[in-house]
Amino acid sequence: MATKLNLQHLKAFVRDQELAAMAPQVEAAHRLLEERSGPGSDFLGWVQLPKEYDREEFARIQAAARKIQSDSDVLVVIGIGGSYLGARAALELLRSPFYNNQKKSTPDIYFVGNSISPDYLNTILALCEGRRLSVNIISKSGTTTEPALAFRVFRELLEQQYGKEGARSRIYATTDKARGTLKELSDREGYETFVIPDDVGGRYSVLTAVGLLPMAVAGIDIQQVMEGAAAAVDELSCPDLMQNDAYRYAACRNILYRKGKRVELMACYEPAFALMNEWYKQLFGESEGKDQKGIFPASVIFSTDLHSMGQYVQDGSRILFETVVDIQRPTQDFFIKDDPENLDGLNFLSNQQMSVVNRKAMQGTVLAHTQGGVPTMLLEVPEINEFEFGYLVYFFERACAISGYLDGVNPFDQPGVESYKKNMFALLGKPGYEAQKAALEAQLG
Ligand code: PA5
Repeated sequence: MATKLNLQHLKAFVRDQELAAMAPQVEAAHRLLEERSGPGSDFLGWVQLPKEYDREEFARIQAAARKIQSDSDVLVVIGIGGSYLGARAALELLRSPFYNNQKKSTPDIYFVGNSISPDYLNTILALCEGRRLSVNIISKSGTTTEPALAFRVFRELLEQQYGKEGARSRIYATTDKARGTLKELSDREGYETFVIPDDVGGRYSVLTAVGLLPMAVAGIDIQQVMEGAAAAVDELSCPDLMQNDAYRYAACRNILYRKGKRVELMACYEPAFALMNEWYKQLFGESEGKDQKGIFPASVIFSTDLHSMGQYVQDGSRILFETVVDIQRPTQDFFIKDDPENLDGLNFLSNQQMSVVNRKAMQGTVLAHTQGGVPTMLLEVPEINEFEFGYLVYFFERACAISGYLDGVNPFDQPGVESYKKNMFALLGKPGYEAQKAALEAQLG
């Protein structure tokens, strides 16, 4: 059993013929992917990765994770964007959003280098004080400012704490196999390195060492993650639109977009999915949002956000469609007891599992939102485990690539990300940016 797409509630918005009419376009997009003939075809290493990954490196990841578990109380994971979101999403979904606060035999994991906030950095440094540390620096380019800055701080800390030699055996670098400042530094210092393959872009890299090492340190069974993803490769490589749920999902998104539904709201009724939402937003936002096009990826956790965003979804601008990640079984249910006094009037909920209440909330909301003009798709995930996580990751990756090709964009580049960096470097006086500095400062007034 793995993730299935349920289009039952979409019928009032997308007719069967409309979906069927997408078949030729979807087949063309499928060919671009499989024949490696579309834009961005240098970045298709993720397509077969779950089946063709480097087994020797995988074993090294597992060995490094065991070592970190045995000699560290804390693993500091340094990275940003695609070099961080997947690992954090996996940790929160498969272990817990409260992982660090739980009793456990694995190290705490803190994520840094994903902002430039001094307050955030100081907080993590304080949490690390007096504890045995290891660091996993993750950067494909090796030059991204946020993680590079954080690494400078933690490298110094490790060297103070353990000496240069000791620090060396506690720093793990996940980066390009040959290029970049981080690779050079790692080779010079003798850090253990893991590779982000040339043909796997940041946001498609969660199933490489980028995601796998932090996951393994947290005790997540990464073998099962890869098996789930490999099952998805088998099921979701089928060119037939009607047989391929990732393609049906991509086609429906495209139809809805053309009907003016410019925002996809990813909704889940499990708070542990919040970081998966963030990962999804990067994957689709960076892949589709270009050439002045693209669905805006947004997200909510329900029922939490029904009390904040619910009004807009039900009744605001009709620019939304909703994709509900329906996790069908909780990891551990909670029995709601009867209260003979019933002062709170809640005895209509008594003597049943809380998951039943959550499910009824979901069903009621889906009907209300559909009634209110929000097209809704359900992604039915049988339960949360490593296999399903791997499957879901690949499902979204595949759907995202096909969505991008249906939209006529290159789903594997991100030219727009450079603009803020150029301005920031100029304003900070980085050598080489002198010409822009004065002009930008004049604009700031
Ligand atoms: O998807 C992407 O390419 C980006 O989000 C990158 O992952 C992010 O900018 C970090 O880049 P790097 O791994 O080179 O430090």
